[in-house]
Formats: sequence, C-alpha cells, structure tokens
Amino acid sequence: MSAARKLVVPIVGIGLLVALIGLPAQADNKGMEILEARCSGCHDLKGPAPATLKELWARKGPDLFYAGNKYKRAWLESWLQKPKRIRPAGYFYVDHIKPTEDGDVIDKSTLKPHMALSAEEAHDVAEALMSLKANSHLITKGEYKPGKISLTMGEMRFDKFRGCMACHEIEPGYGGLSGPEVYTVARRLQEDFMMSYMRDPQAWDPKIFMPNMHLREGDLEKFVHYFRALSEEDFE
Ligand code: HEC
Ligand code: HEC
Repeated sequence: MSAARKLVVPIVGIGLLVALIGLPAQADNKGMEILEARCSGCHDLKGPAPATLKELWARKGPDLFYAGNKYKRAWLESWLQKPKRIRPAGYFYVDHIKPTEDGDVIDKSTLKPHMALSAEEAHDVAEALMSLKANSHLITKGEYKPGKISLTMGEMRFDKFRGCMACHEIEPGYGGLSGPEVYTVARRLQEDFMMSYMRDPQAWDPKIFMPNMHLREGDLEKFVHYFRALSEEDFE
C-alpha cells in the first residue's frame, strides 16, 4: 500500500466520526435557522423579559427564550404541526374583545390561526427550543412529586378558594378568557416549571398580568395535581 493510501483510510474514518458526532447538533441548527427566520418576528428567543409595560405591549407572542425550561418536548412537536388556540381571546385579551350590551365578547374576526410546520420542521424546531435554557436558577428539578386530587376538590380550590377561574378556563367555554386555558396546561408545561411560575410569575416575566397569588407551598403541588387530572379528561 502506498503512503498516500494509508493516509486516506484514517482521514475518511475521522470524517465519518465528525459527521456522526455532528448529527444531533444538525437538527438543532436547522431548527434554530427556522426559529430565526420565521418565528423571531413574534417571539423573543434571546431575552431578557420585558421590563416595562411598553415593552410588554410590543410583544406579539409569548417569550420562547426559556422554552427548554418550560415546555414538554412531545407537546411542542405535535402542537407546532397542528396549533390550537391556547388563550381564548388571543395573546392580548384587550386587543380581541368588543364590548356589547351583554358584556365583553371575543371578536373572532381579529384572531388569526398560528402558522403550522411540517413534521420534520416541527421535530427540528422542538429540538432547538428545548436547548433554550435561560432562568434555570428558578427551577428545582424534581421538585414536583406526583400525587392526586379529585376534580371536584381541585375545582373548588381553583375557583372558590383562590379565584383563579376569573382568568383561566377549566374546560372549553368555561372560565375566564384573559389567561391561557388550564385544561391542557399539564400536557404543555413541565411540572417543575408550573410550580416555579405559580410561586412567582414575575420572576419569569416581571410585567405579566398573572398576579402573584401568594400561594402556600403545599397549594402549588395541589394545583399541579389538579392540572394533571384535568389533562386526562377528553374535552375535544
Ligand atoms: C404572527 C406572529 C407569530 C409568528 C410568526 C409565530 N408565532 Fe408562535 N405564537 C404567536 C401567538 C400570538 C401565540 C399565542 C397563541 C395562543 O395563545 O393561542 C403563539 C404561541 C406559540 C407557542 C405556544 C406558547 C405558549 O406558551 O403558549 C409556541 C411554542 C410557538 N408559538 C412557537 C412558534 C414557532 C416555533 C414559530 C415559528 C415557526 C412561531 N411560533 C411563529 C404568534 C406567532
Ligand atoms: C388576573 C388574571 C389571572 C388570575 C386571577 C390568575 N391567573 Fe394564572 N395566568 C394569567 C396570565 C395572564 C398568565 C400568563 C399569560 C402568558 O404567559 O401569556 C397566567 C399563567 C398561568 C399559568 C401558566 C400557564 C401557561 O399556559 O403558560 C398557570 C399554571 C397559572 N397561570 C395558574 C394560575 C393559578 C393556580 C391561579 C390562582 C391561584 C391563577 N393562575 C390566577 C392570569 C391570571
């Protein structure tokens, strides 16, 4: 064998190795390219969260710069292919309601459907979003310990005791309209994130309209039990 041919073999070998190691990063990169090109006009991918109301009002969609600490990957991948409205009155409630004699109603004509991705794009974008891990210091991994609460007790706490239902729907068409629906929240969000967010929403998003409800530590877990129970119901 000539010296040149002896060299080619290890070089091809190294090339293959590099290609293999590079593979997981590739989905990430493709996903990141899509995010930058098609999503960054409406979603903040870099942070920090808006520090003033004016900055908040300028936002067109929820922040995604801490997506990897917030969403469940499987949900992201499927929702991005078939997005369904999460906030019944759109991202900013006041932009999409009209006053009538019977009170405020949602002006559906102002609500536009969310863009959808192909299966392959959704896979790559979900991968890229899961790599965005800002605010990790607010998350205690494994903090949430699974447990049970009945739907009746859960609803009593959510509605009567704490008044959360003024802003959140617990089933389609039942509950408040200004916040995200909670009957799908346990499919969408990581349990440890929900604990942290309910404890102090402003730590994540200083100007957001979700009030700090000063929940007791024990209550945080019970609400997550409740959301998980709701997510097992089939409302569709
Ligand atoms: C025209 C503006 C716009 C563009 C472009 C856009 N989004 Fe959105 N996005 C929104 C709005 C508004 C919502 C809130 C929808 C709701 O509550 O029903 C949203 C919601 C989401 C959510 C759920 C977030 C949550 O916490 O509820 C994800 C994930 C998401 N978008 C990802 C993407 C990705 C990925 C792209 C690019 C491929 C993209 N979006 C492009 C406006 C946009
Ligand atoms: C004044 C209205 C209001 C009240 C009352 C309220 N929330 Fe919220 N909540 C919001 C808004 C607004 C958001 C965040 C919206 C966003 O990110 O777009 C939110 C977000 C959340 C989220 C994260 C959901 C998601 O999809 O991102 C959870 C969980 C939650 N609230 C639970 C509760 C609980 C539990 C209570 C009662 C103890 C409560 N909320 C009371 C308005 C409210």
